[in-house]
Amino acid sequence: MDVFGVLVTAIWVMLPAYVPNNAAVLAGGGRPIDGGRTVGGRRVLGDGKTWRGTLAGTLAGTAVAVGLSAVAGVASGIVGRPLPEFPLLAGVGLAFGAMLGDIGASFLKRRSGRERGAAFPGLDQLDFVVGALACAFVLAPAWFVQTFTLPVLVAILVVTPLLHVVTNVVAYVAGLKNEPW
Ligand code: CTP
Ligand code: MG
Repeated sequence: MDVFGVLVTAIWVMLPAYVPNNAAVLAGGGRPIDGGRTVGGRRVLGDGKTWRGTLAGTLAGTAVAVGLSAVAGVASGIVGRPLPEFPLLAGVGLAFGAMLGDIGASFLKRRSGRERGAAFPGLDQLDFVVGALACAFVLAPAWFVQTFTLPVLVAILVVTPLLHVVTNVVAYVAGLKNEPW
């Protein structure tokens, strides 16, 4: 496929993984996953990782996958490239995996002494990609190898940090997020 096709495909297949973090920001709050527990004097995850945010993010990302599947045919016609549908397990894997990756990153941030909200360049932009890809691979392996070709994976690694930075700055300016990362 050409560069445009690869870029469009990369963004399309990752939309169910891009949405969960933003949905969690909107829906977050309530009981933290770690229940306030600490390891070595520091929170396991911190108050920024809640059950409600994680559930809302997973549901939102899965809903995006279902919605995209419904319009895949029309969207393919518009961009003139074949855009894949998402089997339910692929959507769940991308959405839940994105949340898991973000939670894993918070675990690492706390272990390295970073307080809630502290930036961790690199990890902040790619944690959810790693989680989403890993979970999608586990839950929908056949779909995964068919969809995530090498060019698409490369495009994802290049485009995601850019999109992530832009959406977080927008959320920050809109007053939805406390930090612009
Ligand atoms: N959020 C949530 N549950 C999650 C992820 C996010 O409730 N699993 C909500 C929280 O309200 C969080 C906000 O979304 O404060 C922003 O998410 P994020 O930037 O990932 O968390 P931080 O508060 O920055 O904490 P951390 O340093 O652990 O990333
Ligand atoms: Mg943060």
